[in-house]
Amino acid sequence: MKFYLQVYGCQMNVYEAGIIRQILNRAGIEETENESAADVLLMITCSVRKHAEMRALGRLRMFSAQKKNDPKKIIGVLGCMAQRLGEELISEHDVDLVVGPDNYSVIPELIKKLQNGDAPGTVLSLTGECYSDIYPVAQNHATATVIAMRGCSNFCSYCIVPYVKGPERSRPLKNILLEIKQLIDKGIKEITLLGQNILAYKNDGIDFVALLRSVSEINGLKRVRFLTSHPKDLNEKVLAAIRSLPHLCPQLHLPLQSGSNRILELMNRHYTREEYLDKVTMARDLIPDLSLTTDIIVGFPTETEEDFNATLDVVAKVKFDFAYMFKFSPRPGTKAADFTPPVPPAEASRRLSELIKIQNQITLDSNRAMIGKEYELLIEAKSPRGKGSLGRTRHGKVVILDEPFTPGNLVNVMITEIRGWTPVGKIIRR
Ligand code: 5AD
Ligand code: SF4
Repeated sequence: MKFYLQVYGCQMNVYEAGIIRQILNRAGIEETENESAADVLLMITCSVRKHAEMRALGRLRMFSAQKKNDPKKIIGVLGCMAQRLGEELISEHDVDLVVGPDNYSVIPELIKKLQNGDAPGTVLSLTGECYSDIYPVAQNHATATVIAMRGCSNFCSYCIVPYVKGPERSRPLKNILLEIKQLIDKGIKEITLLGQNILAYKNDGIDFVALLRSVSEINGLKRVRFLTSHPKDLNEKVLAAIRSLPHLCPQLHLPLQSGSNRILELMNRHYTREEYLDKVTMARDLIPDLSLTTDIIVGFPTETEEDFNATLDVVAKVKFDFAYMFKFSPRPGTKAADFTPPVPPAEASRRLSELIKIQNQITLDSNRAMIGKEYELLIEAKSPRGKGSLGRTRHGKVVILDEPFTPGNLVNVMITEIRGWTPVGKIIRR
């Protein structure tokens, strides 16, 4: 029996796809890249914005078309959108199995039941699952992600995550360390610890800083990063750990969401623009080469031109190295879905384009500022065009090299130019 798996969504989903692969492999079901050869067509999905769900529904129509030709095929929707839409996916979209983020372990059994003639069904209990002792197959040759905590209990008013992933809970330290050691044995050099709200990590008396300390002591590991930090939980202890522990990379992903205090309050973010800016100053004072990335939402209900300008003002002050920027997308069931008045879509689009234009220039300037400086690169892949390779600096910037290097190698380069958006490096010593 063979399965095909389409992955949508965040890094967490990419990681969880590895868990699903492991669960299916253990049950003797093999992966295929060829949809028409697959007995089971699966997709792991995202619900964070409507656009993400529309894409998945589009792909689902292609799965259904395959099933018309071969009615024995089983179609499964997994992850956040499965959790959010449930039964509706069966009644309206021809899906056979609908499995929420906490229930992946039951997939093989459900497949067997469906093949024995059982009716389509959903498994959607939020059980607090952590998949603690399932170790996904390594995703690539140099870097890997490892889940440290799952779920979120913050309830930002726009966000569907707490509803589809359940409350936050942390994975035991011993499983995290074991997984990282296994990855290092396979040649992985860099680990990104994942969690919707990673700074809230807490398991059996071990807090986030203690976790960082243990991870940074693992032999053979060269770089450690983590995602995502909520500004309200960022403190001096965490920053001091980044600065002092070996292998911790000078990088923080610190979602701003809005620069207007009124909107931040409506978003239930638990910080003000002043507190955010103070934390950025504290972080940059402690870690001078810190790279800062962020997420920003424009067009949140009631957002005025003044609120939007307050966001642009923070963007201009902080000068993020990179930002993910979104138009507000109402998610049914969240508080903000009922906030009024909404910002007219054309106005929200205008604000988004303006923000993107400003941030793009800042990103380009921050890349240009690398010219003439030396960096250590971890080679991650071949460059998509040409014979060269792609590497990443410790502060998280991708650099093009015109020479081929094997993924996993560490090399030192000098940045000589910017090609399109991307810095280009020349080797200075091997
Ligand atoms: N609409 C738009 N963007 C959203 N995000 C989360 N929920 C929504 C929503 N309803 C964004 C936030 C978050 C990122 C992962 O997605 O910026 O940090
Ligand atoms: Fe959503 Fe807020 Fe949790 Fe991030 S911290 S996932 S924005 S609820």
